[in-house]
Amino acid sequence: MSTIDEIKARIDIVDLITEAGVKLRKSGRNYIGFCPFHDNRRTPAFAVWPETGTWRCFGQCNEGGDIFKFVMKKEGWDFKEALQYLARRAGVPLRPPSPHEEAAREAHERLREILEEAVVFYRNRLQHAPEVLTYLREQRGLSEATIETFGLGYAPRGWDTLLKHFTARGYSESDLAEAGLLSEREGGGYYDRFRHRLMIPIRDERGRMAGFGARTLEPDGVPKYLNSPQTPLFDKGRLLYGLDRARKPIRAADQAVIVEGYLDVIALHQAGYENVVSPMGTALTEAQLRLLKRFTRRIVLALDPDAAGRKAVLRGLEAARQAMDHETETRFDARGLLRHEARLRADLRVATLPEGLDPDEIVARDPAEWARLIEAAKPIVTHVMETLAAESDLEDPKAKAEIAARVLPLIEDLPDPVEREAYRQQLARLLRVDERSLIAAPARVTRTRRPRARRETASVQEVVTAVTPPASHKVEALCLSLLLKNPELLNRLDRALQEARLPALSPEDFGYTDHQILLHLIRQSLEQTEVEPQAYIRNSLPDDLGDLFAELQKQSEQVKAIDERLLDELLRNVIHLRRMRLNEGLNHLRFLQEEAQQQGDWMATSYQEQVLRHTKLLRDLDQASLSLSIRRQ
Ligand code: UTP
Ligand code: MN
Repeated sequence: MSTIDEIKARIDIVDLITEAGVKLRKSGRNYIGFCPFHDNRRTPAFAVWPETGTWRCFGQCNEGGDIFKFVMKKEGWDFKEALQYLARRAGVPLRPPSPHEEAAREAHERLREILEEAVVFYRNRLQHAPEVLTYLREQRGLSEATIETFGLGYAPRGWDTLLKHFTARGYSESDLAEAGLLSEREGGGYYDRFRHRLMIPIRDERGRMAGFGARTLEPDGVPKYLNSPQTPLFDKGRLLYGLDRARKPIRAADQAVIVEGYLDVIALHQAGYENVVSPMGTALTEAQLRLLKRFTRRIVLALDPDAAGRKAVLRGLEAARQAMDHETETRFDARGLLRHEARLRADLRVATLPEGLDPDEIVARDPAEWARLIEAAKPIVTHVMETLAAESDLEDPKAKAEIAARVLPLIEDLPDPVEREAYRQQLARLLRVDERSLIAAPARVTRTRRPRARRETASVQEVVTAVTPPASHKVEALCLSLLLKNPELLNRLDRALQEARLPALSPEDFGYTDHQILLHLIRQSLEQTEVEPQAYIRNSLPDDLGDLFAELQKQSEQVKAIDERLLDELLRNVIHLRRMRLNEGLNHLRFLQEEAQQQGDWMATSYQEQVLRHTKLLRDLDQASLSLSIRRQ
């Protein structure tokens, strides 16, 4: 038994969830209660199945999983943190870290300690820099408490003030340089990296120091912001400024707002809008979106109103398109930011800010205006549509075709058919063309024809397929071992799924948190080009998944099939898995429906909608597997 299975076997999911403050009522073999992740106190849409060790919210969240997923979501932890907590609780010893890991951990600890010391150092200097304090208070409108809370500081002018202060206290120059506080002289030796700047400490989502953003205090200082260099702790593409303070408010509001500047984050927090974070002067990365996704799926981009700001949204889109133009084997099944949206299933919106004003200026003028602007944020498809339209000549048929060609694929990426239809209509109105001409556009010609008569018989058969949870575990493991045998299969699988009008394989397809993490890793292995995917997976594997990995690899060695068959096998199993999941969901919904009817009727209709949605998804799967088998013959 793997460590993870052992932990699961020893922890009673009902106890765990009850202790987390969720009141559960037994009903048959299951339990129901109010969902702890969204605040509907009227509807007990949260169910726990002790037999399978799983939970699910059938209300607003529509999420579920095992005990790991529960504590990760409840506490905002990553898998490792959840594992440590649950292992301790279960009394299952974890494998001690290897000497190599231990050394890396200690090195990180040391760097963090240095950075914490640096925060104190810069903060003290700020207290002796009255002109900077005045700037913060008067020009930036920051209160004493805010300056303190965000740990703002001042780096003095000299070339070696910090260097001398720290080396006198026993720190080595090389450690200080590794922490990003010193720069190396060309002829050898070091000097202070940050001089005469406002220092903004940047922490990771757990509040641990990672680096600094440093703003110039001169009107035309260049660069305006100097950040820490890339260090073992400071990775610009993986950090979000303010997330340590914003994570709880984000979860509470079930919404994260992304702005562009550090000082905007600070000013908004001060004004009471605490669900705000910012990237570090770079376009939003997929890693950052994944990080945020742990706290919410609803993300609003509040971008500068100038042209550059609007282009920032389109940049991701453009990058993807260019890549597709040059590469015949494209990995982008959705595009740009929407590729994140499709993969991460996030609700991405764009709030347009008034011309010439940064968020900090907006809240300074009228705090309530911020709430209105965020409320009015538009879905990203609308935003792209309007941005392109505003920049093009809509009388020019070529421009119209261009816009249609860029927007239609985004619309096609949306999961909800009703929404797709609404956007198609909107686009048709905008371009003043007949909607049917849009439907005939190239983005849709790949659509497979429905084999009508056969579809219905198949779907009836499938709905009655019995589901046993251990079976789904096996199927998940089989999919993973196929992918481990040849990680590139994942790209081909995604393409095949896309051709069958099904979403790409996502961690959500798996019910087991460890499986989800491994799939995520496999996907990451394909998004880098440094090493072979398999080597990448082996190297980045969290220690705790070593057992699982070894087990799956053993399994994958037993799979003896030629490459072509592997894809078929994988595809079949993914569809099988999704079908199991949907059937399981249907069973659960029936149970909840019966419950609701016994209690008085007010949820029954909402469950009915979900039943319909599940049934529709099952039909899509049937249709897809039919078209796939037809194609293969
Ligand atoms: P802005 O130039 O919009 O600055 O850069 P700002 O945050 O509004 O700052 P104030 O209000 O003028 O003081 C937005 C963000 O882009 C990154 C920083 O993260 C900054 O907060 N940036 C900007 C850099 O990393 N380097 C730069 O040289 C400029
Ligand atoms: Mn600003």
